[in-house]
Amino acid sequence: MVKHAALALCFDRLNTKPAPYRYIDTHAGIGEYDLAGDEAERSPEWQDGVGRVWQAESGAPQDVRNALAPWLGVIRSLNADGLRHYPGSPLIASRMMRETDALRLCELHEPSADLLRETMGRDKRVKIEQRDGFEALPAYLPPPERRGLVLIDPPFEVAAGSRKADFDWMLKAARGAIKRWPQGVYVFWRPIKNLDQVQDFDGELASMLIEDGGIEPEKILVADLWVRAIGEGKLAGAGVVIANAPFGVSEHLRAALPWLCDLMKQGDGAGWRVESPAAEGQ
Ligand SMILES: C[S@@+](CC[C@H](N)C(=O)[O-])C[C@H]1O[C@@H](n2cnc3c(N)ncnc32)[C@H](O)[C@@H]1O
Repeated sequence: MVKHAALALCFDRLNTKPAPYRYIDTHAGIGEYDLAGDEAERSPEWQDGVGRVWQAESGAPQDVRNALAPWLGVIRSLNADGLRHYPGSPLIASRMMRETDALRLCELHEPSADLLRETMGRDKRVKIEQRDGFEALPAYLPPPERRGLVLIDPPFEVAAGSRKADFDWMLKAARGAIKRWPQGVYVFWRPIKNLDQVQDFDGELASMLIEDGGIEPEKILVADLWVRAIGEGKLAGAGVVIANAPFGVSEHLRAALPWLCDLMKQGDGAGWRVESPAAEGQ
């Protein structure tokens, strides 16, 4: 949720300049989720997430509504008669991007790649590759437009390798990418289960972005939301690290996250943060 709200804010900002840009999604997923489908019925967590936002948003303070407007605008455009379709990152991108912009989407698993192709339909801006997004990324960078956004959003599944492996893969991919194209906007998603692990990752990532990419520390942003106390071995929440965060994104997230946290908390230990991460050794 923070990921998609933040992503939509980044697109909104990129759209303020007419020059075309490119969106690269290394782990694109299926593009759209049917909230009334079998899968969503088996795991109805969405009801406590976007379902609550959908119900409560009209009563939110104006600054919260402004912050969520780009993301909710896409959701509204798919749901004229009540909430049923939830847009994943590729669909948020394609709905928000302009005619002259381009999308490059990687999805490794065939059934998901097929669904993604179906969701995206015939769209000359979009190229879908069924391949490993971490491996594919270097070839996409720098994009010919020299403007754009890269989302790195791996599944952190135990079955597909350990969670640690995904943190490590993400750092490796980030290091390669940032050397090739330090000017890009990067959004890295990661789950919050263990605070030490997340802080170590953020610190290492921030150091690398600053040292290898020459990115100013103030342009690196962490936005996290956790709905229960962290450290009980259970998934507590998730968040993003944004490199070269576009102007205004942090203010919007600072407005939205306390409201989202109140709305979605499941116990006393819920919380949020929007800040620049401390680089390693600081
Ligand atoms: C968390 S989901 C992506 C969600 C999507 N980015 C969104 O926000 O809507 C992760 C996806 O990555 C795919 N995947 C797993 N390993 C991959 C890899 N090495 N390269 C590309 N895709 C991969 C999975 O099949 C899954 O669809």
